[in-house]
Formats: sequence, C-alpha cells, structure tokens
Amino acid sequence: MKSVILAGGSGTRLYPVTHVVNKHLLPIYNKPMIYYPLSLSMLIGIRETILVVNPQDVENFKRLLGDGSHLGMRIDYVFQERPRGLAEGLILTELYLKNQNCILYMLGDNIFFGHDLPKIMLSAKEEVRKEGGACVFAYYVHDPERFGVVEFDESGRVLSLEEKPKKPKSNYAVVGMYFYDSEVFEIAKSIKPSHRGELEITSVNEEYLKRGKLKAKLLGRGFAWFDAGTHESFLEAGEFVATIEKKTGLMIGCIEEIAYRNGWIDKEQLLKLAEPLKKTDYGKYLINLTKES
Ligand code: TTP
Repeated sequence: MKSVILAGGSGTRLYPVTHVVNKHLLPIYNKPMIYYPLSLSMLIGIRETILVVNPQDVENFKRLLGDGSHLGMRIDYVFQERPRGLAEGLILTELYLKNQNCILYMLGDNIFFGHDLPKIMLSAKEEVRKEGGACVFAYYVHDPERFGVVEFDESGRVLSLEEKPKKPKSNYAVVGMYFYDSEVFEIAKSIKPSHRGELEITSVNEEYLKRGKLKAKLLGRGFAWFDAGTHESFLEAGEFVATIEKKTGLMIGCIEEIAYRNGWIDKEQLLKLAEPLKKTDYGKYLINLTKES
C-alpha cells in the first residue's frame, strides 16, 4: 500500500510567514510539520509515500527527506504547478498508484494525536481493501458551519456530506485523511472545478456517497485534530505537541523512531541519523532509543 501527502498549496492563511517558506517545512514545536502526516502513514506500515509539492519547494523537501532510503522507505515527489485543489493531487499521482487497491490520502497540514489512531486507520484500510469504496474520518466540533460536515449511521454508512453548511446536519467535521480504492482516479478526473476554481476533495467524496460506497469512522473522545493552517491553530498544535511530549517523555511524529521500531532501519543507522542532532533533545531521544533493551 502507498500513501500520498499533499504538501503544496499557497498557505495564504499563514502569510507573511509562508511568503517564502512552504508551510509544511515550518516547525510544529520541535520538528517540521510534514513529519506528522508522514509518521502516521509509517505507523500503519506504509513504506512508499508520494509527496505532492510546489516545484519551487521540491529542493527543500529533498534536503529534508531525500528519497526516504535513510528511513528504509521510498519517497517520491510529484509537482503540482499551481494549487488547483486537493483532488488534483489524485490525478497527478495516478501513474504511481494505478495498481493499488487502497490508498491513504492525507493533507500535509493536518495533525492528529490519539492512542488507537493506527488501529482505526488499519481497520479503515482493511474495509476499503475488502469492500472497495472510500472512508473518511469524523471529528466532533462545536462550530460545524466552518467545515465539511458528515452525517453517518451506527454502521458508519455516510448519509450526507455538506460543505460549510448554514444548518449542519451533524457536529462531525471531515478531517484531512482519506482511504480510497482504485476508482478514485476515474472519479477525480470526472469532477468539475468548484466556484473557487479548485478540484475539491468533497466532490470526490460526494461521488462515492452517490454510489453508496462512502464510510466514516469516528475519531471520538481522546483524539486531538488540528488543521495547522492558521496562525492560531499552528501555535495551538505546537503547544499541544510540546505538552504531550514533556508529560509522557515520548515523541509524537518522530519518523526516525517509527522507522527503527518498524525494523526498517537498525541501531547503527539510527545512531547515524541522531549524530547531527545530538545537541538537541530530539537527538538525545533517538540515542536513548538505541539503549532500550
Ligand atoms: P488548504 O489549507 O486548504 O490550502 P493552502 O495550504 O493553500 O492554504 P491557504 O488556504 O492558507 O491558502 O490545503 C490543505 C492542504 O492541502 C495543505 O496541506 C496544502 C495542501 N494543498 C495542496 O497540496 N495542493 C492544493 O492545490 C491545495 C489547495 C492544498
């Protein structure tokens, strides 16, 4: 299985910070934002990831993550010439994903935290693999008017989807993480741009809904979700990560740790990755991992 992480876009809600630096390279506390979605994808065992990036940013991403081989994985880069919408990333990556029966599709600025998250993701993956269709994730919010809103029954069957509705049918927002079967390319290519001129991911999900093939999984109490695309939420996400890491002594989104625990790299390779970071708590954390029995 492969994943796609969208790391393009224009980041206008973070201006002036993102005038010259891509949002996904900015730090959420002690690591670049892109580490968070990448680490989730790694946590469910995905070793091949495609990053959708703006052409002007690709060199920076490559300096940070290279081809992924240092993590025992493979990272490919696909250019998005202009931010024409979240669903365009699907069309751009089709060649890489043609033979996949299940794809994890993630927004690079969405940050999640929750103990059983990989378990829930794996069950979504299994369902899509066995039954086809698509799966979205629902998160309770008190201001659903600001989000894509999903209504679903007890079995997880989606009943309705609405984009920023004035009178929402539920309090559940659709977050930036999706599982799709291989029909997604045909669907993405068939949708029309919205009034803002973008190929919307909601249009893709609506088509799955029309076909009766859209499921939702609840991210209930105990989960935290941030769309770190505004100044306020960006800061909030950083503070949250800092608090959890200090309290638990464990890192969130530490890609080197996950590669090591997955057995994709060995002790020696981990120590090599830690070496340039050894003045930081991040580096010390990696070194300590090699001392665990
Ligand atoms: P958004 O936050 O909706 O858009 P943006 O990043 O351009 O920011 P702003 O609204 O502040 O201008 O994008 C969600 C995620 O998807 C984010 O991680 C960037 C990424 N993205 C792309 O990769 N390509 C695109 O065409 C768009 C619109 C977003």
